[in-house]
Parts: sequence; structure tokens; C-alpha cells
Amino acid sequence: MADKRRFDLFAAFVTQHFPAAQRAFDIAGGMGKLNAALTTRGLDVLTFDKRWKHDDVQYAQRLFTLAEPCACDVVVGMHPDGATRIIVEYAHKHRVGFAIVPCCSDNGMPYKPWMRHLAELGTSLGLEVAEHALPMIGRARVLVGRPSLREPSPRDQ
Ligand SMILES: C[S@@+](CC[C@H](N)C(=O)[O-])C[C@H]1O[C@@H](n2cnc3c(N)ncnc32)[C@H](O)[C@@H]1O
Repeated sequence: MADKRRFDLFAAFVTQHFPAAQRAFDIAGGMGKLNAALTTRGLDVLTFDKRWKHDDVQYAQRLFTLAEPCACDVVVGMHPDGATRIIVEYAHKHRVGFAIVPCCSDNGMPYKPWMRHLAELGTSLGLEVAEHALPMIGRARVLVGRPSLREPSPRDQ
């Protein structure tokens, strides 16, 4: 059973760790509860998910892919399931930060190896990855990634 406080806790975490971010993409956002919690904290948020029924938030009713044009400073996902790996790859592609609270893997991998795999994926892409925890029950580990200062921007190449 997922902790109902997860959206507020994660929104507070995101604003604390990315204080300069103004625009966020909320991936696999379900009903849009994380969007609402981030919006309350001053961010301009667009949620991506396929649900036709959702809260009254800015919502792109489609699956998120790497082809999505980037209009965010940080990309976040609470229990984003099949979109988790895409978030890490998208952050690398567009040199923005990410924060994810992984849950189920996209390939049947158990939780701990899945967490290790995601951290290694980010590191292998040149991101600086750190792990944190939210004070809640259930899947509460957070992976945060930031573009490495050493890696040249695609615009510089
Ligand atoms: C476990 S639910 C989590 C929903 C919400 N974040 C929450 O914590 O309640 C996983 C969600 O991922 C969505 N999802 C999976 N792959 C996605 C993708 N590529 N783009 C957008 N949403 C995706 C599903 O539609 C589903 O709503």
C-alpha cells in the first residue's frame, strides 16, 4: 500500500534539492497529485500519463517518451514504473536534473537490483547520482541525478 503522504513529501524534497527549478515535468503522474503538490510550492508543472480521468492540473494525456521536447528544468517521477528508465535517459539527453522514487521495474528485476541498475545507468551517462530516502512507508528511496559539470553541453559540441 503506497503512503498517501508521498506526493507532499516528494514535492518538498524536489523543491529542497532543486531550489532554482521553475518548470517540472511530472512523469507517470497518475491523477496529478504530485503536480498539485509541486504547483502549490510555486513550480510550473506538466504531468504526463495516459489517464483520461485526473485532477485539474496541466496534463499531457499521453505516454512520455524520449522524443518529447524539453520544456522543464527538472524531470520527476513518483513510482513511475515503465517510465523510470526513460526519465534518467531524458535528463541526460537534455542536461536537466531528475528525481525519481522508483517502484516496480520495467523488466521484472527485484527492487534492490533495480535501484542499483538505475543509479549505474545515470552514472554511466555521466550524471552525478545520489540516493536519499523519504520518511514514509513503502518504496521510499529517491534517486537524484544532475548533469555533471565536467560533461560538455550538446550546444557546445
Ligand atoms: C504505479 S502508477 C503511479 C502513479 C502515481 N505516480 C502515483 O504515485 O500514484 C504508475 C503509472 O505509470 C504510468 N506510466 C507508465 N509508463 C508511462 C510512460 N511512458 N509515460 C507516462 N506514464 C507512464 C502508468 O500509466 C501509471 O499511471
